[in-house]
Amino acid sequence: MFDAKEFVEERIAELKQSIPSRAIIGCSGGVDSTVAADLVSQAIGDRLLTVYVDTGLMRKGETEWVRKMFTKLGVNFAIVDASEEFLSALENVEEPEAKRKIIGEKFIRVFEREAHRFQAEYLVQGTIAPDWIESGDNFRDTIKSHHNVGGLPCDMQLKLVEPLRDLYKDEVRKVARYLGVEVAERQPFPGPALAIRIIGPVTREKVEIVRNACAIVEEEMERAAKEGYMELPWQYFAVLLPVRSVGVQGDNRAYGRTIAIRAVQSIDGMSAAYSKVPHEVLEIISVRITNEMKEKVNRVVYDITNKPPATVEWE
Ligand code: XMP
Repeated sequence: MFDAKEFVEERIAELKQSIPSRAIIGCSGGVDSTVAADLVSQAIGDRLLTVYVDTGLMRKGETEWVRKMFTKLGVNFAIVDASEEFLSALENVEEPEAKRKIIGEKFIRVFEREAHRFQAEYLVQGTIAPDWIESGDNFRDTIKSHHNVGGLPCDMQLKLVEPLRDLYKDEVRKVARYLGVEVAERQPFPGPALAIRIIGPVTREKVEIVRNACAIVEEEMERAAKEGYMELPWQYFAVLLPVRSVGVQGDNRAYGRTIAIRAVQSIDGMSAAYSKVPHEVLEIISVRITNEMKEKVNRVVYDITNKPPATVEWE
C-alpha cells in the first residue's frame, strides 16, 4: 500500500542530498510537475526556480491561473513567454512524433536559458512512470514520446532529477492531497499541450479553435457534474480533426471543420474506458461549439474508443 507521508519524507531527505546547488524545474501547473516543484522547494528552498513556459499552446486562462497558484504555493517562480518560438518551430510539422520531439527540445532550450540565468546545474522534471513506459526503450515499443522523456536532446547540459519517476498518477494525486496542493484534483493535461489535440500541422488559427472547444467541453462537463447529471470524467477535452465536411448555415452551404470530444475514465492513464456522457450534455457542447465558432466548425463527433486499442490523446 502506497504511503504518501512516508514517500514525501523520504524524497525530501533524498533531494537535500542529491541537489547540492541550484536547480530549476519546468512546471506546467499540472499535478505531476506541481507536486515535484513543491517537494523540491521544501527540500532546497529558494535554490529552486520554478519555470512555467507559455508555449502558446496552453488552455484558456491557464497562464494567469498558474501565476496565482504559484504565488499561493510560495515557490520562487518565473513565467516565460516562448509562444513565438514554439509556434514557429511547429509550422508545417505533421507527424505526431516529430511534433513531440520538437516540443521536447524547445522546452529544454528554454530551460537551459533559464538555468543559465539562474546559475542552476540541475533540471528537475515531474516525469512519472507512464511517461517513460510509453516513451519506450530498448525493450519496449514507443507508443508516444512523452515530451519530458523521448524529446530530450542528447546534448543536454543539465543534470536531470526526477523525484516522481516511479509513481503512477493515482499515487501522485495521493501525494498532492497529502501536501495540500490545490492542483490535486485537476484533470491531466499533456506537456505538448494543444499541439497534440490538433491533428496535423499546428497553426495559430487551429490553436484558437481547439482552445475554445476545450474550454467549452470543460465548462459544460464540470457544470453537469456539479449539478449531479453525470460523474466528472477522469479527463475530458476536444480534438481538432483534419476533416472538413459539408453543412448548412442559414440558406448557405458550409464547408467547416470537425471537433471530436474525448472523455475517459481511468485510474492511471495506462488504460482507459470512454465515458458514457449523457447525450444531453454532449448536445449542449455540440450546439455551443458550432454556435460560438460558426464560421469555423460545423460538425462535432464523440469518441467512443477505449484505451487500448486507442490512446487517450489522439497523437
Ligand atoms: P495517452 O494519450 O498516452 O495518455 O493514452 C495517457 C495520459 O498521459 C497524458 N499525456 C501526456 N502527459 N506528456 C505528459 O505530461 C506527454 O507527452 C503526454 N502525452 C499524453 C494524456 O493526456 C493522458 O492523461
